[in-house]
Amino acid sequence: MSLFRTKPIDVIGTSKGLHRCLSAFDLTLLGVGAIIGAGIFVLTGIAAATKAGPAIIISYILAGSASALSALCYAELAASIGGCGSAYGYAYAGFGEIIAWIIGWDLLLEYGISCSAVANGWSGYVNNGLTAMGLHIPTFLLKSPLEGGIINLPAALIVLVIMFLLARGVRESTRFNAVMVFLKLSAIAIFVAVASFHVNPSNWHPFMPFGWNGVVGGAALIFFAYIGFDAVSTAADEAIRPERDLPIGIIASLIICTAIYVLVAALLTGVVPYTTLNVSSPVADVLLNLGHRFGAGMVAAGAIAGLTTVILVMYYGLTRIMLAMAGDGLLSPSLTHIDAKKRTPTKIIYITGVLMAALSGLLPIGHLAELVNIGTLAAFVVVCCGVIFLRYTRPDIPRPFKVPFSPVVPAIGVIFCIYLMTHLTGRTWIAFSIWSAVGLIIYFCYSRKRSALAIAGQ
Ligand code: ALA
Repeated sequence: MSLFRTKPIDVIGTSKGLHRCLSAFDLTLLGVGAIIGAGIFVLTGIAAATKAGPAIIISYILAGSASALSALCYAELAASIGGCGSAYGYAYAGFGEIIAWIIGWDLLLEYGISCSAVANGWSGYVNNGLTAMGLHIPTFLLKSPLEGGIINLPAALIVLVIMFLLARGVRESTRFNAVMVFLKLSAIAIFVAVASFHVNPSNWHPFMPFGWNGVVGGAALIFFAYIGFDAVSTAADEAIRPERDLPIGIIASLIICTAIYVLVAALLTGVVPYTTLNVSSPVADVLLNLGHRFGAGMVAAGAIAGLTTVILVMYYGLTRIMLAMAGDGLLSPSLTHIDAKKRTPTKIIYITGVLMAALSGLLPIGHLAELVNIGTLAAFVVVCCGVIFLRYTRPDIPRPFKVPFSPVVPAIGVIFCIYLMTHLTGRTWIAFSIWSAVGLIIYFCYSRKRSALAIAGQ
């Protein structure tokens, strides 16, 4: 059996039984839902105060450029190869099963940990809101056992609520997502409207207090803010016109969010000195400091809506990638069960929901953004390489959307992503290596023998 056994592109794809009902607009809202969240509402302040200073604006442009180049590559492969496995499926087509497994395993890390980490952030924001209204949750119900509590109950509960929503159906889930996206965009609009009148350009000096290394370190951290546009590609089997609408959803959501991020980063650092931004809710705090209590409350509510949609869409993406992996026999095929009425993979939704609720409630995982970033950047590298490789090995497949100037654009994408990866901490690299090693052990002990390709005797 070849180590790099692969399967034909024509075999990749459609998980039967899902509900094909999503338009380009729904997909764009899914993208915005997954992208805008803890990154802008929480990490921006920390990254500006401790890494980049006002040059966090450049960090946002750097991370946005790496994401944009990767997004173009995602758009090409999503339109030409499809399948709800996203980068996992494209890696299968381009590089064979073992690379596909490694990337699929990475994606489970990206999506699973980002849901649980964002659920922790959600719990913090909700607790602040309740405290402001005079309601107090006992501390032991807000902290995991390792932090001296019993459980982070709000974090676990929000995951379970989203679990039931996702199980109900993709239409219901995207409607809810649309309302929440509207709320979070309104909150950002309020921030922009108020903050624009309070900019003091002297706050932008010194612009780069930590030098270029600080700017790139900041980009590697706030890269988290861009994660999520890739989740749009996991909706391939539920999109009405995937060849046309997936590229629109991926690229449009990224353009909208990049513009918002650069604007918000410029305003945050323009209104107050960057040194004061090292707080967990910088966007709301800045308005509060300006004396806008109502605006601050609206921004906090918008942030809660934003964190909710990130959990929703990343959780959704996780279930679709697992569905694709189970369909290929790399995870238990029993997971492929799709509820005939709701047309959702209910078994996967319930199993992953309970696991992620336990993870968010019982472990202090609010600070794992860097681990999510490294897994995602690795997936982006494979996707960019996949575009170059498949242009040579499979020039014949129809490509409704093509990355311009290939192979130059995907090659720059690879360099950008690797550059950002090198600026993540040694601890993050060690954790990522351990996760990948565990994945390889599972592959060689379980998945390799039971995969659909092994059974087909290839
Ligand atoms: N991009 C998402 C966020 O910032 C993961 O929360």
